[in-house]
Amino acid sequence: MKWSSASLPARVAIVDVGPRDGLQNEKQPVPAAVKIELVQRLQAAGLKEIEVTSYVSPKWVPQMADNHEVMAGIQRQAGVAYSVLTPNLKGFEAAELDRPDEIVVFGAASEAFSQKNINCSITESIERFAPVVSAALAAGIRVRGAMSCTVGCPYEGDIAPERVGMLAKLMKGIGVQRVDLADTIGVGTPLKVQRALDATLQHFSVDAVSGHFHDTYGQALGNTLAALDMGIWNFQSSVAGLGGCPYAKGATGNVATEDLLFLLQGMGIETGIDLDQVIDAGQYISAFLGRKPNSRVATAVLNKRAG
Ligand code: HMG
Ligand code: MG
Repeated sequence: MKWSSASLPARVAIVDVGPRDGLQNEKQPVPAAVKIELVQRLQAAGLKEIEVTSYVSPKWVPQMADNHEVMAGIQRQAGVAYSVLTPNLKGFEAAELDRPDEIVVFGAASEAFSQKNINCSITESIERFAPVVSAALAAGIRVRGAMSCTVGCPYEGDIAPERVGMLAKLMKGIGVQRVDLADTIGVGTPLKVQRALDATLQHFSVDAVSGHFHDTYGQALGNTLAALDMGIWNFQSSVAGLGGCPYAKGATGNVATEDLLFLLQGMGIETGIDLDQVIDAGQYISAFLGRKPNSRVATAVLNKRAG
């Protein structure tokens, strides 16, 4: 396959999910003030969509218990959309007080992961999401659906594309406006990801599907290219490669926003985001966490700066 600028999207939109997906799994407490500062730095760098927090049980995910404080503390910028995760009506009612621009219901293509992550079957999850979606749309809040384990599952192994198609159809049926194809444990490779995307595109338009690739096995950029090749132009990534899911043991973070940006910029694809400022934001949060950014690009640039 030979790529040309004519066959690739001219522009890509990135949701930085670092403050939520990135930090949710951190064992050490991260004060709300640090999360707020991270969001501020991301928006200053040009990120137009930021996944800020989740309204889930604090017993299940203690790190996100400060959701109200974080949402209240952000100095919002016009043109930036702030999204949050809401697994049920209780979560939505709490989130609504904080005026998110978009809520995310999150389901899985794997039954076992659905049970471990949100304590219910796929069918039950859709029943729980339906009133959340209706309430959000009635309140003028956009709705995204995250689809976990679309390629592989930590409990069930390989996931067939048909199961992804089935989940996408269920999400569409309850009014979800766009979906994330998530490779939760990063086991996807380009052909598998393209098959899962094909199944999703039976139900959602190419403008309504995003790639959410964890980089556990180093495949996320390859999978991004495979998705770009299919016309996908929405992606999710995490500053400094933060993260992992508490219910997917061993899974590491999303592809680093820095690495994704370097790839896109190198291919002449517009993002409106300043790579150097994202690297600074990544350095800020990594310094707080006491480690180096988990990004090859950030490491290379920081080494160059130091030299
Ligand atoms: P449950 O125990 O089945 O819920 O949990 P329940 O309705 O029986 O309620 C049990 C308790 O939780 C009650 O409190 C409720 O009030 C409380 P208690 O009486 O015991 O004190 N509760 C809540 N509290 C706050 N906010 C809520 C809420 N709902 C109930 N919204 C539930 C069901 C979904 C709540 C639970 O399983 C949960 O919180 N799971 C955490 C899921 C999570 O955050 N996972 C990580 C994010 S997903 C992800 O990372 C993947 C993604 O990045 C894509 C990818 O990469 O794959 C999106
Ligand atoms: Mg994720």
